[in-house]
Amino acid sequence: MLLRSPKYRPSQFGQSSADRGRTDRYLAGDALDRDPRMIRIDRIEQDVVDRCLAAMPDHAVVVDVPCGNGRMSQCVAQQDLLQLVALDLNQHMLQSMSVRNQAGMLDRRVQADVLHLPLPNKCADLVINMRMMHHLPNRPLRLKVLRELVRVSRDWLITSFWTTHSWRYIRRRLLGKSIRGFPISPYQFMDLVDEAGLTIEQLIPTRRLYEEQVVAVCRVP
Ligand SMILES: C[S@@+](CC[C@H](N)C(=O)[O-])C[C@H]1O[C@@H](n2cnc3c(N)ncnc32)[C@H](O)[C@@H]1O
Repeated sequence: MLLRSPKYRPSQFGQSSADRGRTDRYLAGDALDRDPRMIRIDRIEQDVVDRCLAAMPDHAVVVDVPCGNGRMSQCVAQQDLLQLVALDLNQHMLQSMSVRNQAGMLDRRVQADVLHLPLPNKCADLVINMRMMHHLPNRPLRLKVLRELVRVSRDWLITSFWTTHSWRYIRRRLLGKSIRGFPISPYQFMDLVDEAGLTIEQLIPTRRLYEEQVVAVCRVP
């Protein structure tokens, strides 16, 4: 059967104040997604991050970009001996972190573009870059973002991407529906991280061959 070329929805990348409705809901205290599927994905992502955090030396610097409403920053802020820097371009997202009520997190927020992080080279032991890659519409932009993250990290990077090797993506293609985000194949991802100078330690599907979201733990040589 011939499939028509995929129709992608516009990218949310680079919007500093859009999506106000969504972030306002966070501000109103409705931040935690109650959908069981999203809770499950969230738990898997947090487990990966928690395992990495447990391996960090005392006083390690952990950069969370984009931090969104602080889902991952919260895991870092719970560890007294880690130093968090949480960055996002969207001021409303940064404000919405306040619903989490996690001590020590709110004064670590910085509004910044992931392409131009206001951080020195190799200042972080770990950079967390969760749920961003699938917003990036093309390879040059993905590479640019990864290179900026590699510039800042001296050791570890956790990132994620949406895979085309998933039933949720394939089903949308078969039904001729528009594609949410910009999924790529695991081979495209491997090629990308290779070009950015990273090595992959682990690829963790959130649900093998079903969910689009895959978490990648990478090492900066
Ligand atoms: C899907 S959210 C993910 C947030 C968080 N990492 C998480 O997993 O909960 C994507 C985030 O990327 C942010 N963003 C979009 N473009 C950005 C850019 N150029 N620089 C920094 N953050 C950006 C958005 O404001 C949004 O908070």
